[in-house]
Formats: sequence, C-alpha cells, structure tokens
Amino acid sequence: MSSATSLKVLVVGSGGREHTLVAACLASPLVGEVIAAPGNGGIAAVCPCFPVSVDDVIGMTELARREGVNFVVVGPEVPLSLGLVDSLLEAGIPAFGPKADGARLEASKIFTKRLLLENKIPTALAAEFDRLDAALDYLGTAALPIVIKADGLAAGKGVVVATSAEEAEAAVRSMLENKLFGESGDRVLIEECLVGEETSIHLVVSGRDFVVLPTSQDHKRAGENDTGPNTGGMGAYSPAEVVDDALMRRIVSEIARPSVDAIAAAGIDFRGVLYIGIMITRDGPKVLEFNTRFGDPETQVLVPRLATDPVALMHAAALGTLSSVPLEVKPDYACCVVLAAAGYPGAYARGEVVELPPSVGPDEFLFHAGTRLDDSGRVVTAGGRVFGATALGSTLAEATRKAYGVCDRVKFASKFLRRDIGARQLRRDGQPS
Ligand code: AMP
Ligand code: GLY
Repeated sequence: MSSATSLKVLVVGSGGREHTLVAACLASPLVGEVIAAPGNGGIAAVCPCFPVSVDDVIGMTELARREGVNFVVVGPEVPLSLGLVDSLLEAGIPAFGPKADGARLEASKIFTKRLLLENKIPTALAAEFDRLDAALDYLGTAALPIVIKADGLAAGKGVVVATSAEEAEAAVRSMLENKLFGESGDRVLIEECLVGEETSIHLVVSGRDFVVLPTSQDHKRAGENDTGPNTGGMGAYSPAEVVDDALMRRIVSEIARPSVDAIAAAGIDFRGVLYIGIMITRDGPKVLEFNTRFGDPETQVLVPRLATDPVALMHAAALGTLSSVPLEVKPDYACCVVLAAAGYPGAYARGEVVELPPSVGPDEFLFHAGTRLDDSGRVVTAGGRVFGATALGSTLAEATRKAYGVCDRVKFASKFLRRDIGARQLRRDGQPS
C-alpha cells in the first residue's frame, strides 16, 4: 500500500468491538480522520459520531458519501447481512466486511451447515426442519443432549443445548410454533452435541487469501464457572494456549483452508473476518459455526496484540492485496473483562452515571460498549455490556490482574462482572485464580 494513503475511515457500530477498532484507526499512520456511527460514549470522546442506525443501509451509505469517507469498517453482523457493503461498493467506497452473500455464512446456519457437510469440513452432524411435526418426530429418536438452532440471526440467543426431552421440545416449539425469533426461526437445525473446549479462530480473508489472527477464548455464560444464561460474551483472553502449534496446523489444514476455498468456490468473494467457532473434541477440532465479523469481546484482546497495523490488514483485505501485509503479533497476553449491568442478558437498568478513572496505565484500555454521553456530557450506562476492561501483560496472570485493576476503578450502581476470566488457562498454568 502506498505510504501516501490517507484514509478517512467510518467505523459502523456501537459496541466494545467498535471502540477498539476506532482506537486502532486513530493509532494507524494510514488514517487521517475517523468518524463513527452510531458510536457510544467512549467513541464520542475521541471522534465525531453520527446518529445513523446500523440497520439503515441507505442512511449509512449516504453518510459515508457526504462525509467523504474512503474506507468503511463494519463491526456488527446485521448491516452486513442487510447488504451495507454491497451498497457502499456500489457507491465506490471500499469497505471491510463481506457483502450480503458472504454474510449469509452467519445469517443462515443451514446455509453454512450445507457448505461444511458438502465439503467434508468437520462439524456436528445435523438435520434441518421447517415443520413442527417432523422436528418433533426426529427429536423422539435423538440422543440427549441435543442442540436446537434457529437458522437466522437471533442476537446470540438462537442456540439451545437441551439436556432433557422437554427442553428440546420447548426449544423447537418456541422457534417453529411460537415464532420467538420471527423469520429467523422459520427453519431450525437439530444437531449432535459436541463435547470439548471451545476456541475462537479469527481469519482475515480476502478471496482465497487469509491470515490467521491470534487465538482467543470467550466466556459466554453470564455466571462464574460457566453457569447461567448465554450472553454475547463476558470476557476473553488471548492467546488460548489450548490451541498448541500442532492443533493450529490441524485447524488450518482441516478447517480454515478448506472453508476459505469452499466459500470462494461457492462464488463468494469474501473480504472481511471469518470468525470460526470451534469445539476441540476427542475426534479433533470441529466447526460450531461461522460468524462473518470480529467477535466481541474477542476483538478487545486480539487487536491490542497485533504488532501489524490492523488498518493495513483490513484495508489490504478490502482491496485484494492481503498477501502483501505480513502479520506480526506481540508476545504479550491480553485479557478483557466485561463490566455488565446486573440482570444482563435479561432486563437491566440504564441511564446510571458512571464514575471513570481519570486515566489507565500503560497497556491498559477501558473500551466502552453500552455507554452514551448525557446532555451534560457525563458518561451514563446505555446497554447490557457496558465496558470491556482490557490489559496486556507478559503473562496471562499479569494481564488478568491489570484488567481487574481497571474494573475496580470503574463505578456504576448495577456493575456486574465475572471474576474468573482466564481462570481455566491460569489453572492449567498452575496459577491461583
Ligand atoms: P452460537 O451463538 O451460534 O455461537 O452458539 C452459541 C454456543 O452454543 C456455542 O458457543 C456453543 O457453546 C454452543 N453450541 C453450538 N453448537 C453446539 C454443538 N453442536 N454442540 C455443543 N454446543 C454447541
Ligand atoms: N463473543 C461472541 C461473538 O462475538 O459472537
């Protein structure tokens, strides 16, 4: 890429992932200016934010055009699946993120399951249903536990791991009969339950080229020791050492390479992040699912660990020149602890005034997620996941200690966090957790 490039970047989204991406853009020598839409309280403190909703494809394209943006980074899955990147490209504005055809890999679990099975990429065996009676008949013959998945986007709530016949039937009925997820549940997958440890593998993909970002592990359950309901993610760390070099070679040769090739062979010119959720089973790594964007909170631990400019990677992927950017990763460990509002992922309070530390230490980051600035410029809570307190350290124990130090210095009435982020790996390392 030419060193003369001066990008004006629009970051689309309002979460901790987007605050992390905005920070990376501001630090990039390739970037002259950054704007965001709609942004959050932390993003608004560092760049102009515009009140355009992420699902307003026309409004977002118009904003990019009006503001003279020459590169757009799309955070969440919904605008991708609605065709925001298609619309931006039609307007001549390069963007990082797949077009709607690629975003289907996240927006339809059935589409992805077929692609995986047809290409013999390891994944859970599954059957698809659009009729309640057929789905219930099938459940009558299936072993427990069993996994029920709504086909479409369901904000992370469309997967039920049922341990009893009653729970499995209730899940199928909620989707096919009661339309809990609307059209997203018009079709369901019923699939075998995989057992093992999970890991998130993020690839930056550009056609048939890809680079593998560092490994990470999310903590999806709301409660400590992986109890309670599934959330968008309560914390993450990187690297996930459960993926050693030999396992990574298997993941690349058995999953990543064949997946990228299968996607290209399906006629999809994918330019963005392919986030592969993987279960490490006794029979080897298997795909749980694809997401077509950066994970949140995984981004908060991945991006700070990159020695390569993340904007250089994303821009090259968008332009089709990814192989010209070598990936370099810092040796540091990273930990991100999500500060949520008590009650999340159910009902929770909003509008609470936040007391922030005046500053954070070197290699510490307080990424905002569900925050906004009120009329008098104070930061108030505005979402279930409110902050991602993040730190780098030379060991995971140090990164974790620093991240929790940041957590303790942020105050709001309903603050809620898990105290065991990274604990599983720390126990493996023989560290107290
Ligand atoms: P998703 O929101 O689609 O990423 O799935 C949510 C979670 O459901 C995953 O992170 C896994 O913990 C779990 N899950 C999905 N599919 C399976 C499966 N076949 N076996 C066991 N757990 C699964
Ligand atoms: N942390 C899970 C996700 O981004 O889907």
